[in-house]
Amino acid sequence: MCGIIGYCGDKNASTVLLEGLKRLEYRGYDSAGICVGIDKALKIVKCKGKIKDLKAIVPENFPGNYGIGHTRWATHGEVNDVNAHPHTDGSGKVAIVHNGIIENFQTLKNKLQREGHEFRTETDSEVIAHLIGTFYQGDLEKAVREAIGLLKGTYGIVCVHADEPNRMIGARNGSPLVLGVGEHEMFLGSDVTAMMAYTKQVVYLEDGEIVDVTDKGFRTSDYDDREIAKEIDHIDWELQQIEKDGFPNFMEKEIFEQPESIRRCMSGRLDTELATGHLGGLNLSSKELLEVERVKIIAAGTSYHAGMVASYLMESMARIPASAELASEVRYRNPIVERNSLYFAVSQSGETIDTLFAMRELQRKGARVLGICNVVGSTIPRESDGGVYIHSGPEIAVASTKAFTSQLMAFYIFALSMARMRDMSYETGHTLLDGMKAIPDQVVRVLEQKNAIRDLAMKYSSSENFLFLGRGINYPVALEGALKLKEISYIHAEGYSAAEIKHGPIALINEQTPSLFLVPDDRLREKVISNMKEIKARQGKVIAVAVEGDEEVGDIADDTIFIPSTHELLYPFLMVVPLQLFAYYTALDLGRNVDQPRNLAKSVTVE
Ligand code: G6P
Repeated sequence: MCGIIGYCGDKNASTVLLEGLKRLEYRGYDSAGICVGIDKALKIVKCKGKIKDLKAIVPENFPGNYGIGHTRWATHGEVNDVNAHPHTDGSGKVAIVHNGIIENFQTLKNKLQREGHEFRTETDSEVIAHLIGTFYQGDLEKAVREAIGLLKGTYGIVCVHADEPNRMIGARNGSPLVLGVGEHEMFLGSDVTAMMAYTKQVVYLEDGEIVDVTDKGFRTSDYDDREIAKEIDHIDWELQQIEKDGFPNFMEKEIFEQPESIRRCMSGRLDTELATGHLGGLNLSSKELLEVERVKIIAAGTSYHAGMVASYLMESMARIPASAELASEVRYRNPIVERNSLYFAVSQSGETIDTLFAMRELQRKGARVLGICNVVGSTIPRESDGGVYIHSGPEIAVASTKAFTSQLMAFYIFALSMARMRDMSYETGHTLLDGMKAIPDQVVRVLEQKNAIRDLAMKYSSSENFLFLGRGINYPVALEGALKLKEISYIHAEGYSAAEIKHGPIALINEQTPSLFLVPDDRLREKVISNMKEIKARQGKVIAVAVEGDEEVGDIADDTIFIPSTHELLYPFLMVVPLQLFAYYTALDLGRNVDQPRNLAKSVTVE
């Protein structure tokens, strides 16, 4: 959600800023801008549109060796050239980029306006530039410190001043900010992708920290100017991982990476001899794990759907009561933290503010919260009490795919280990373990059907409404299928438990509203088949995802995608992949931008 970048060093700043913004574009893409300092003046170029539109208006050989850049996901003020960042104060000497929301901006703006400040934009962010300008007396860091003392809300800010070339000040409260340490050059960015082409040495800033950066070094301090020593971390992602690598877009690349990413998530974590799983990093002894009486999972979006699947797993495999809840709801309902409950915060990015704030609220109440995250070094894993990295590699497309299947795998490993510590037999453990190990190859077989799924997507892409229906552990998968379709194709899609259709959604059924059923060969198969027949009886079109050889389902459905057979608890892996492909090819057929769907952003760092 909004990408910010800052640079000072010996390179051409506009080149570095534009390159960094391109990498950050998945965070927001309605407008963009850069500000470069040269000869004690700041030059700003900004516009509505994508980074390529900005690039087209940045003059060639735009001089200057320091500056800031921003790619916006609008919160306050419409999407237009003026509201695009960077923003300046009245003198034009202070420029800032901001990610987050300043909640008290209107009060501050009113006061500044009464004092004679003229505002040019409708944004909350502009107020920061004016405040810094007001406090500036020759030391930018001091002015930023005073200004942020007045701000309420969340921010990642990077700021420059025309009179202090090659210096930038960053401040963080609730929105991520990372410092990149290069040779004779320094970077600030919303995440490491912004600077990965230049350096892999990074420093993660925490909330309440300010960083004073010049091309020679940096100093980190708290809001009271007490110096804070920071460690430099090394990023082990490769540049190639954040490139399309021959695929037409990131989403297709990420869908097809799943056999590998699931394998990576399992690697070194399965114990064939004891038929169990091992997750380092939980920071819990076997005794503490045995004492867990309840598992609670908090997350948003696709990660929430993974958490829902996990809650079924914990109960079925480990017989531990479990539930998943939207993080945004947890935070504000004064949650009750029960003794011996174990919490999980699930987040691909590790930065989703709803999940982060809910985690902090739970921790304040004494809960132990583990993270299940992808982005190493992001805020949730840093602040959690332990956890698991899913090692999917960078996920760039806004619609999450490979992170979902790896989040599932992390939970399967955890559930298996908890089950084997309790009453699951060695034999059952082994059956599950063998099933888990077979998943990557089975996903390959599902992916091999891409042409058939593409044809199906094209057949139905003119539908205006869709139902996705599943039961039991595949009910959350139906929700995920509906979410994928609506996110990237903009077709209205609802996910339901197949049993629920008779309580309302069946009223929507007609020839133009297809229903996509998930029909594994589990104990609910017969029930789901009855639900399919109810739809057929009302002239509804039925698409089924069923198990190879299930002729009965093939006969009832208008169209069927067949997947390999697996253990009944493992179907979510194989059911979700056709749904990802179905959404993807539908969106392509409709000419949508699949990587950057309208109105959305990848890393949602506002509430
Ligand atoms: C955004 C993204 C979704 C994602 C959700 C949660 O809405 O567009 O794809 O599922 O955030 O993100 P997280 O990084 O916490 O998994």
